[in-house]
Amino acid sequence: MPEQTKTALAGGRVLVGVGDITAQAVDAIVNAANRTLLGGGGVDGVIHRVGGARIKEECKELRRTRFPKGLPTGEAVLTGGGALPARHVIHTVGPIWGREGGREAELLAACYRNSLALAIEHGLATVAFPSISTGAFSYPREEAAAVSSAAIAEFLREDDAVREVRLVFFSSGDMNVFLRHQQFDE
Ligand code: APR
Repeated sequence: MPEQTKTALAGGRVLVGVGDITAQAVDAIVNAANRTLLGGGGVDGVIHRVGGARIKEECKELRRTRFPKGLPTGEAVLTGGGALPARHVIHTVGPIWGREGGREAELLAACYRNSLALAIEHGLATVAFPSISTGAFSYPREEAAAVSSAAIAEFLREDDAVREVRLVFFSSGDMNVFLRHQQFDE
């Protein structure tokens, strides 16, 4: 995210900026998917559009072999990056605000934690996240900032294999809301 990296947090391991998730040349970008893993709008739509059909083929295979009922909210799976500059895509399903019986924060934290754990499992050192659940899934940006930053900070305290986490926002407005409500130690 060289063009608009605005802020480095957590000792420089977390880079916050404005950009397009599909343009991130990292080991893995994270997709804000839905349980079907078969695509949608927003981030999901653009990742499949830019990444190409191979990604969907891998998702269909994951559905056939491991998740016949769909990927549970909070879980994460890995595919190749297809035509994307990123080598891999980590697909995770964020919580839908107000529809998870009060478990929204726990499930959103699980998306970030499980995506980072999957990256380590596959030896991936650089990961870029969009702002999971804050679009179609209506998670308030302020609360999402507090939950996501706390989950990432806790994970990075326990681990040093992940070298760089990028938090990629689609607008400076979204980024500024995050920066005002994030809970990283400076
Ligand atoms: N790059 C970075 N961020 C983006 C991009 C992009 N190209 N496009 C959208 N965003 C931002 C949105 O502005 C929002 O802040 O990503 C955030 C997540 O929005 P959504 O993509 O709507 O994801 P989410 O809220 O998790 O809803 C997921 O929407 O697209 C469907 O299939 C998907 O059903 C699932 C649901």
